[in-house]
Amino acid sequence: MTSKSMALFNTLMMVFFLFMNAPLLEGSRDFKVGDNLGWLEPDINNVTLYNQWAAKHRFQIGDSLVFEYNNDSVLVVEKWGYYHCDTSKPIIAFNNGNSTVKLDRPGLFYFISGTSDHCKRGQRMIVDVLSPRSPHSTAAPPDAAASPSPAQSSGDAVSTVTSSSLVMALLVSTVATLV
Ligand SMILES: *[C@@H]1O[C@H](CO)[C@@H](O)[C@H](O)[C@H]1NC(C)=O
Ligand SMILES: *[C@@H]1O[C@H](CO)[C@@H](O)[C@H](O)[C@H]1NC(C)=O
Ligand SMILES: *[C@@H]1O[C@H](CO)[C@@H](O)[C@H](O)[C@H]1NC(C)=O
Repeated sequence: MTSKSMALFNTLMMVFFLFMNAPLLEGSRDFKVGDNLGWLEPDINNVTLYNQWAAKHRFQIGDSLVFEYNNDSVLVVEKWGYYHCDTSKPIIAFNNGNSTVKLDRPGLFYFISGTSDHCKRGQRMIVDVLSPRSPHSTAAPPDAAASPSPAQSSGDAVSTVTSSSLVMALLVSTVATLV
């Protein structure tokens, strides 16, 4: 390879690795629950308001939910508490009007109003936090989750290197035809 194509190769390589790592470099985000509406008892015809809101977003580990409310509260509860609007055993409870909950693990988080009647009328929400290598995540290579590597402990590195190599091979052949 000529030095010119080598330089091009190196540039492409850098661009490629930046691209691969972009999801990791992306900062965590704050989501204001309910957008401008905030956290309140929904209208009578809108009881799924908060789950609809949650469904519109993709939550990653490290993101935060900001609940803004008046004369109300927000509880993090277990699944049972969510479905029964049971406010007696919260995992975390807030009533300061402006509460931030950090989504620090993958999986489901259940939120309800601390006022049971509000919860029954739809002031409750389930949030699904994507796992880092979720097959639903656009950040993951499409086949990475579907084909576990036999070398399980180094599976991540292996699949990354494999897909990197494939793309690099493509880039190299492209460069070779251009130079
Ligand atoms: C529910 O509330 C949201 C936010 O205010 C609004 O955009 C939506 O149109 C409402 N849906 C119904 C069925 O009223
Ligand atoms: C909150 O409660 C106080 C006292 O009960 C009342 O004066 C105030 O209007 C309420 N605020 C809202 C937004 O409902
Ligand atoms: C709530 O707190 C956040 C930062 O934690 C801030 O940006 C926001 O303005 C606050 N909202 C209200 C209504 O105080």
